[in-house]
Amino acid sequence: MTIQMVDLQGQYEKIKAEVDAAIHGVIDSAHFIRGPQVGEFECELAGYLGCPFVHGVANGTDALQIALMAQGVGPGDEVITTAFTFIATAEAAALLGATPVFADIDPQTFNIDPSKIEELITPRTKAIVPVHLFGLPADMDPILDLARWKNIPVIEDNAQGIGATYHGQKVGFMGNAGTLSFFPSKNLGCYGDGGAVMTTDKELYERMKMIANHGSRKKYHNEIVGVNSRLDSIQAAILEVKLRHLDAYIAARVEAAAKYDALLGDVDGITTPFRPKDVTHVFHQYTIRVDQNLNGGRDALSAALKEAKVPHAVYYPVALHQLEVFTSGSSKCTHGDMTNTVEAAAEVISLPMHTELTDAQIGYVADAVRAFAGKGSLASLAK
Ligand SMILES: Cc1ncc(COP(=O)(O)O)c(C=O)c1O
Repeated sequence: MTIQMVDLQGQYEKIKAEVDAAIHGVIDSAHFIRGPQVGEFECELAGYLGCPFVHGVANGTDALQIALMAQGVGPGDEVITTAFTFIATAEAAALLGATPVFADIDPQTFNIDPSKIEELITPRTKAIVPVHLFGLPADMDPILDLARWKNIPVIEDNAQGIGATYHGQKVGFMGNAGTLSFFPSKNLGCYGDGGAVMTTDKELYERMKMIANHGSRKKYHNEIVGVNSRLDSIQAAILEVKLRHLDAYIAARVEAAAKYDALLGDVDGITTPFRPKDVTHVFHQYTIRVDQNLNGGRDALSAALKEAKVPHAVYYPVALHQLEVFTSGSSKCTHGDMTNTVEAAAEVISLPMHTELTDAQIGYVADAVRAFAGKGSLASLAK
């Protein structure tokens, strides 16, 4: 049985006619940069999210940088975030000369632990950046309460959580601003690079738009040093098509996750993803924890899955505060106690998760995990 970690071809086959027509529409019009598709997509995404201001940019990393620049983050400042995320979250701060400051995570959700943030705040703290990791919203209420009290902007890194809800509201614009990535494997992925910034604050939106456009509101009248970061028309046209399917894509992921849960929930030493109350998880990744005492732990499971031809990945094997880039030199980070983060990095493994998974594929993956844990045999997998 062939199983893929992400099946972009299978997904494309089902929307091929729509996507091909959209791409050809851009080529026929030759409006490759900021063509009408970009504005249309921004409007449609704003409508989908219920967020008034959305601006497309070149990728999710730029989106973070632009959102931080709009808060005036620069050399000598500090940005508090999680070390259990993709590097881009902290890289954007470091690139601006700010120090990444890492707070530990909640071991159940893998997201930043709100109770660990306050002790890291200093007069130089310029932003707090929670990440909705793997598609599960961070615990925003205590983060926002603290941020309001301390008057610190919150930028949500929502690269992985588009469509997820926290206490009934879609995440990504509960704080001052939020960012999205449309990297192909994301829940809403384009066929190249893409990203967006979003906010409910019109002034901030105008500022982020200006920064993304070489620091200018009016052509050749640049006000500040900005960047060139544009969502291109072809990607926007593809995203317009895929946005119409996003709820179905999320439902497929949630359904696949429920099936994994049912098949893995009784396996001692394996912890399936946690669902906090009144929060929806959109399963960008289906990430389980493997007890280090279970038959050699995560790395042994990885070897067993490889043997059974089950694709898998470790997001993330090294916590950011332990990466060379953040342990020395001008981008050196600071951090609190990181016990939960380090433990998670040693125990997590992500199983195949995408919109095209079949019951048979989910069953096969689960059987391979169960066999590793001593429940069932690998022989049944040889077929
Ligand atoms: C949590 C997180 N933040 C930021 C990014 C950066 O997005 P991009 O790859 O579009 O620059 C990603 C995606 O790769 C991500 O997963």
